[in-house]
Amino acid sequence: MSALLELKDITIQFGGLVALDWVSLDVEEKKVISLIGPNGAGKSTVFNVITGIYPPTSGKVIFRNEDITGLKPYLITDRGIARTFQNIRLFKNLSVLDNVKIGCHCRGRAGVFGALCRHPGVKAEEKIILEKSLNALDVVELTGKRAELAKNLSYGEQRRLEIARALASEPVLLLLDEPAAGMNPQEKQTLMQMVQRIRRIGITIFLVEHDMKFVMSLSDRVDVLDYGRKIASGSPSEVQRDAQVIAAYLGKEVV
Ligand SMILES: Nc1ncnc2c1ncn2[C@@H]1O[C@H](COP(=O)(O)OP(=O)(O)O)[C@@H](O)[C@H]1O
Ligand SMILES: [Mg+2]
Repeated sequence: MSALLELKDITIQFGGLVALDWVSLDVEEKKVISLIGPNGAGKSTVFNVITGIYPPTSGKVIFRNEDITGLKPYLITDRGIARTFQNIRLFKNLSVLDNVKIGCHCRGRAGVFGALCRHPGVKAEEKIILEKSLNALDVVELTGKRAELAKNLSYGEQRRLEIARALASEPVLLLLDEPAAGMNPQEKQTLMQMVQRIRRIGITIFLVEHDMKFVMSLSDRVDVLDYGRKIASGSPSEVQRDAQVIAAYLGKEVV
């Protein structure tokens, strides 16, 4: 059976820079797959290619056996891929709940006309959006803070709110770009439990993260990028022992 997500020979150039160089990788259903590598290795670019922000120069992105290469980002969200960004992107002056509602990828079937006419479909749609948003907040344990302004949350809570917003679109695959960055050990611990919970719900996770303890304890497989090339792929312990990975990235800090 083919993987949930397959990247096939992805190359992307920005001017003269080859940010990804023939990268192929698979993300299998219901797993946690991590992508690690030094800064500038191309990790966020992988996410940008998957989510349609940058179409690759060549290669294919296959999701659930469908070629989604170059589709518009909203169509990719529609197919079941959601993400968080490396830097927090919240509406700081909106409530926690409103920030999550924005993530609901409701097709808006009732439309503008329906909204103007106070069509019953609009009310039903609003109810669905509220339910999905509260479910997402529940997963990251922020239900009690739903009325707070996003800016009043702690840093760790803001990062969890971003995950809730991604969950509100009810994804099959969740891409997390450095979710633990800047967190203290306690916040990381809480986040780790949340990632495990998301996985138990049945959502596949593709993770980019620098914190090795976090990566190694959560991942089923780790892929390693260096200068836009995949240099290793294996179980956390295999990757930690790989000489090329140690030289390129892990250095003396792990093992
Ligand atoms: N939109 C862009 N335009 C030009 N260069 C870019 C763009 N996005 C990324 N890059 C370059 O591509 C390389 C990989 O970047 P990135 O994927 O952000 O790395 P990582 O997430 O692994 O730190 C870097 O050299 C970066 O400067
Ligand atoms: Mg990055």
